[in-house]
Amino acid sequence: MKKKLLGVLLAATMAVGMLAGCGSSSDSSSETTDDATTTEDTASTDDSASSGDLITIGFAQVGHESDWRTASTKSCQDVFSEENGYDLSFVDCDNDSAAQLEAVRSFIEQDVDYIIIDPIVSTGWDTVLTECEDAGIPVIVIDRTIEDSDKYTSWVGSNFKTEGLAAGEWLKAYAESKGISEINYLTIAGSTGASAQIGRTEGFDEIAEANGWNKLDEQDGDFTEDGGQSIMESYCKSYEGKFNVVVCQNDNEAFGAMTAMDNAGITYGLDGDVILISFDACTAGLEQVAARKISADFECNPLAAPFVEEVIKTLEEGGTPEKEVYMEEHWFALTDAMVDFSIDGEAQTMTEVTDEVIEAQY
Ligand code: AHR
Repeated sequence: MKKKLLGVLLAATMAVGMLAGCGSSSDSSSETTDDATTTEDTASTDDSASSGDLITIGFAQVGHESDWRTASTKSCQDVFSEENGYDLSFVDCDNDSAAQLEAVRSFIEQDVDYIIIDPIVSTGWDTVLTECEDAGIPVIVIDRTIEDSDKYTSWVGSNFKTEGLAAGEWLKAYAESKGISEINYLTIAGSTGASAQIGRTEGFDEIAEANGWNKLDEQDGDFTEDGGQSIMESYCKSYEGKFNVVVCQNDNEAFGAMTAMDNAGITYGLDGDVILISFDACTAGLEQVAARKISADFECNPLAAPFVEEVIKTLEEGGTPEKEVYMEEHWFALTDAMVDFSIDGEAQTMTEVTDEVIEAQY
């Protein structure tokens, strides 16, 4: 749809003289990468799609590693449905960066109108984004950020460092309220190099350093339940009796860590010996907060698609969307763990986990 016009607008916006490369392929390839899984591939098959009724979109998703990811995928598939006027080509890249680059290139070949990328890692993007730019295809980045290129139209997502800072400031206030003076913590990190991992580690460790907490270890649990369990099993052996806080960088890792601690006879949560912190706050995570197992859960909003649609509508109307769109997020706990804390002087509000709150979550 209006690809050539958008190409011109893009070029003007980004001040890049690249119209020579704006020719669109009418290749009807719907082929994706060998490694990646195409769970839905309904991309239009010729250039007529560009001027037809449906807006064609290619979405290179990280994978299917977590409840959060499932919610993110569903959000995109719901919003970018045929019923809503879209033709979505979806590629699950299975946490494989090479497969993700290949998926983006396949979208360029398909000459889609827009490309959505949730970047597995934050670097290594400039070349392929230049190829998108040369093809006149606007790229919208969601969730994780790209650090080594600004050749995308907009990014929609969460502030991972703020999430980490929130978890750290909450722990400081909660520990004080319980008279806990010494913090020895273990981190089960998300996939190394993902901006979600980098930001959460940076934010939490900043508060830890400022308060003299002792970081015993950080290992990559890959944002999966299996990863969380196996890292926690090894932590239980190596740091037996030495830790009183475990920070899991997503809910699925926390579920795995819970299994490992159950098996090792370690108690955790609001009534246990170990404070268990998690991120994402998906339905299953909040259920564990309600069960007093996860002490506090720091949300990462997966519902970017409606905001992405706004970006696309702005572009379709010839406007210039915001370069960065931050989504709202909440910090969750039960009443016993709802403490007052601030981030950089700004007072934070905690949300109490109730049945209604769980019901309304994704
Ligand atoms: O990038 C967002 C993170 O990736 C979420 O915290 C996690 O669940 C997902 O896999």
